[in-house]
Amino acid sequence: MPPPAYLEVLADAASVAERAARMVAAEVESARAAGRRLSIMLAGGTTPRAAYERLARSGVDLSIADFYFGDERAVPADHAESNYRMAKEALFEPARVAPERVHRMPADAPDLELAARAYEAELPASLDVLLLGVGADAHTASLFPGSPAVLERGRRVVPVVGPKPPPRRLTVTGPVLESAKVTLVLATGAGKADAISRALEGPLEPSTAPIQLALGGRFLLDLDAAKKLGGAGLRTTNRE
Ligand code: 6PG
Repeated sequence: MPPPAYLEVLADAASVAERAARMVAAEVESARAAGRRLSIMLAGGTTPRAAYERLARSGVDLSIADFYFGDERAVPADHAESNYRMAKEALFEPARVAPERVHRMPADAPDLELAARAYEAELPASLDVLLLGVGADAHTASLFPGSPAVLERGRRVVPVVGPKPPPRRLTVTGPVLESAKVTLVLATGAGKADAISRALEGPLEPSTAPIQLALGGRFLLDLDAAKKLGGAGLRTTNRE
């Protein structure tokens, strides 16, 4: 039985997006009040887009934040499948984030090994905020079930070939996920219900459910993604 995760079950995907945006904004304001900068690592895929759009519209001043990526597909930065492009459209452009504050993961580089080493050197020693999604197979970032990358403890960024197209990617590894002070895991839709149930209530086997590397985080789920949870042993605050 994995360690209990904190989770919030919200009514729908829009509520998850709003809650995530407000939690990130709160971390930004907390850092500002403490007179420090903060690092925010963004998730890719489609789920977080609505949260990024709400964060951009929130009016919070993001100029003290440096943005990083948990993973990136081996496609050009302007490709429809680029996680960078999604974040640029949803967050960086509307919130007028300065380009020098955005640390794009260079997965479009010809040599992904060199690119992984370069990005590893660019990462902070630890993260303030980490955003993650979850695949239907319980992957997170580009850490897929059965991949040696899931159990990697030495390197912080590695190239992978995954089952989710586009297959060639760069991803951060477990030590990076575990370095975050605040981790928000966003999952919505019935398609994630099995993965969430396995991750939160199944045996602790990150190699088969890589999102379990983030069990110390706060899971923000909508009702559909949470529908297969039994609820025992979880610290939850149901916010409808
Ligand atoms: C990626 C993502 C990946 C994503 C999940 C969920 O680059 O593919 O980082 O880990 O978070 O696959 O994707 P959706 O949000 O599109 O369901």
